[in-house]
Order: sequence, then C-alpha cells, then structure tokens
Amino acid sequence: MEKRTIVTLPGDGIGKTVLDEAIRVLENAGFSSHYKEADIGWEFWKSEGNPLPERTIELLEKHRIGLFGAITSKPKDEALEELDQSLKDKGFIYSSPIVGLRQHFNLDVCIRPCHTYKGNPLNFIRRGAGDTIEEPEIDVAIFRQNTEGLYGGVEWSNPPDQVYQALLTHPRFKKNFGNVPREELSVSTRIFTRNATGRILRAAFEYARKYQYRSVTVCEKPNVIRETSGMMYKLALEMQRSDYPDIELWNTNIDAQMMWLTKNPENYGVIVAGNMFGDIVSDGFAGLIGGLGFACSANIGEKVAVFEPTHGSAPKYAEYPVPIVNPIAMIESACLMLDHINEGAIAGRIRQAIARVVEEGKVRTYDMMKMPGRPDVIEKGAASTIQMTDAIISNL
Ligand code: NAI
Ligand code: MG
Repeated sequence: MEKRTIVTLPGDGIGKTVLDEAIRVLENAGFSSHYKEADIGWEFWKSEGNPLPERTIELLEKHRIGLFGAITSKPKDEALEELDQSLKDKGFIYSSPIVGLRQHFNLDVCIRPCHTYKGNPLNFIRRGAGDTIEEPEIDVAIFRQNTEGLYGGVEWSNPPDQVYQALLTHPRFKKNFGNVPREELSVSTRIFTRNATGRILRAAFEYARKYQYRSVTVCEKPNVIRETSGMMYKLALEMQRSDYPDIELWNTNIDAQMMWLTKNPENYGVIVAGNMFGDIVSDGFAGLIGGLGFACSANIGEKVAVFEPTHGSAPKYAEYPVPIVNPIAMIESACLMLDHINEGAIAGRIRQAIARVVEEGKVRTYDMMKMPGRPDVIEKGAASTIQMTDAIISNL
C-alpha cells in the first residue's frame, strides 16, 4: 500500500512547538507516514496578505488529513498595521485561517473528547457525602456543529433596508424592537440547516455506538430557542427511534448543563450541540480534566479532516528559551487523527503511555504543577515540553 501523507500545519507560536512533539510521538509509536508542511498563519498574512494561502488548500485537498498546531489572530486594525508595506491599501482584510479551513472544506463535525487521566493534579474534585472528597471519572465526547448557528457570520449592525423590512414582518420583532432606531440595532442570526444538523447528530450517534456509550445528550435550549434548538432535538428523537434504539437520548438545556458539569459530569457520554453551545460546553468539560494542556479536537468534513488542540498560539510562551507548554493536547489531537484513519490501535497505545506518565506523576509540565507560566518553571521542577514528550515516548 502506498504510504499516506499527512499535511502538517504548524501555524504560529507554540503551535509549531507542540506539532513537532506530536510527530515525534507518532513516529516512535510506529505510525508510518510522509509529512508535508503547509503554510498557515500570521507570517503569511503579513508577507502575502493571506493567512491561508491557496497552496495550503491544494495540499489539503490532495492529501485530505491535516494536523494543525495553532495560529495567531489579531483584530482587524492591528492586522492591517502589521501587513507588509507593499500590500497596504490593496484591500486585504484579515480573517481567521482556521475558520477559513472549516468553511472551505465544510469541516462541519467537531469532536472534542474530554476524559480524566488518573493522577492528574488538575482533575476536578468535589465534596461527597460525609465530607468525603470525590474525583469523578469523566469520559465525555462533545460533538459541536462547526459551521452554522451563531458562528455563521450572517449579522448586521444597522441592518440594511431589505433585512429591516423583513424583520418587521415578524410580530415579535415589531412589538419588541419596532420602535428602536435602526442604527441602534445589531442582529446576529442563528441559522441551522436540517442537513448539517442531521450530520452532527448522526456522527454523535455513530460514535456512541462505536465506543459503546450509553447515551447521547442533546444540549441546547429547545423550550426557548424553539426553531433551531427545537429542530435539532426533534431530529434527534426521530433518528434515535428509527436507527439507534439501543442508545438513550437525553435532552439538557445548556444553562442547566453547565451547573450539572460540577454536580455529575461522570453521568454524561456523548453530548451534541450547535456551534456556540458546543463551544461552551466543551470548554466547560475541558476545565474538569486539566484545561488547555489536555483539550484536543477534530474537525471532520466529508472529504477533509483537520485535527488540532483547542488552545491557541500563546505567543509569549513561544519566546521562552526552553519550551514549557504541555504537549498532551496536541498529542491527543494526533490520536484523534489516528482514530479517524483506522489506526485506533496506535492511538490506544499512545493514550496508555500518556496515562502512565500522568499517573506516575514524576514528569509534570508547569500547568500540571499549578505554576504561573514563566521561564523559571523549569528551575522550579516543572518538566519542559520536550521532557514530557520524551516521557510519553519512553512509555510507549
Ligand atoms: P492561548 O490558548 O494561546 O493561551 C492562553 C493561555 O493558556 C496561555 O497563556 C497559557 O497560560 C495557557 N496554555 C495554552 N496552551 C497551553 C498548553 N499547551 N500548555 C499549557 N498551558 C497552555 O489563548 P490566547 O492567549 O487567548 O490567544 C493567543 C493567540 O492564539 C491569539 O492570537 C488567538 O487569536 C489565538 N488562538 C488561536 C486558536 C487556534 O489556533 N485554534 C484558538 C485560540 C486562540
Ligand atoms: Mg472555545
């Protein structure tokens, strides 16, 4: 069989650091592949006016699997200021390349698994009966619709005439906002399509079946946001009845779910939500299992899939003489990639190696030692990024 090629997208800051470490782990775990590095991020915005060059899109189109570090994004004005002198006043407008990737390849299914590693000092603990301390074992996979909803970008301030007239046809709009001057209105839409909603739900149910989760929870707000959340829940009900009677369908409201996060997080299995609520609930769960150093994600479309840690480029940290950030989120993202390309056995071995390192507790990055992230954490006993990776590799 021809060797596969993974497109690597280091991006900016610590994105580069952690991506190198993930590849080191993949190679030592016996995963055999070619790697092709693709350009993405702030450097390419500054020098070319495009943080997501066409050649990067082409590489992904060809090889279909991307492993992505992180990028730096800055507000529009700052972006313009940093643009190469020769490109200024040429009409370039900065937009996030990761959002661009999701949209270009319709990477509409986002998976963010959160599971407890035993012995992780960052694990959430709570008080049990009789003043006991409990450390719930969390094993949740959040499925976030990645392209629509509140992140769809259909929004206006001072909406144009046709939009305003259309809004006025809605009795609620007329009653509650009809007297507000138009220039004082900002409107962000929350559009769900049946097709994309069906795809995220199906992905969630399939995952639950494949990995033997008992339940799929739709985490929205159908009693208030009746059209979009309501449609998602209704579709989920139909799908569960016809195709997944072996899996329980639960329904929670996003607000209540955030409360239950600290009460009974161990009860949940697969959780599925629209774009915004999926983002919220996945950050919530990530906080219970160690935060940004542990939070991984997959962005999956019909043709292309891109795997990335949830964290950003943490630019300040990239300048430290010895890298201190935790590579586990990136390594876990590489494991999601392996799951996706049917190399689950290798992913399993890597996860076991991480589990052993965390449980043993001898090698801990600064975040796991609850230190403020500064260059001096190494002298104070924290492991460097490279030492953490080495420890994982030696436990493979
Ligand atoms: P960030 O995630 O880069 O960093 C926030 C803080 O989290 C850091 O200061 C550090 O204390 C901690 N942290 C992050 N990754 C860690 C790791 N692997 N191990 C240990 N600690 C870690 O978010 P921030 O500072 O808000 O954004 C920095 C840049 O990254 C911005 O330009 C932002 O736009 C971009 N960003 C990019 C994302 C992406 O590429 N998907 C996602 C989020 C932010
Ligand atoms: Mg987020």
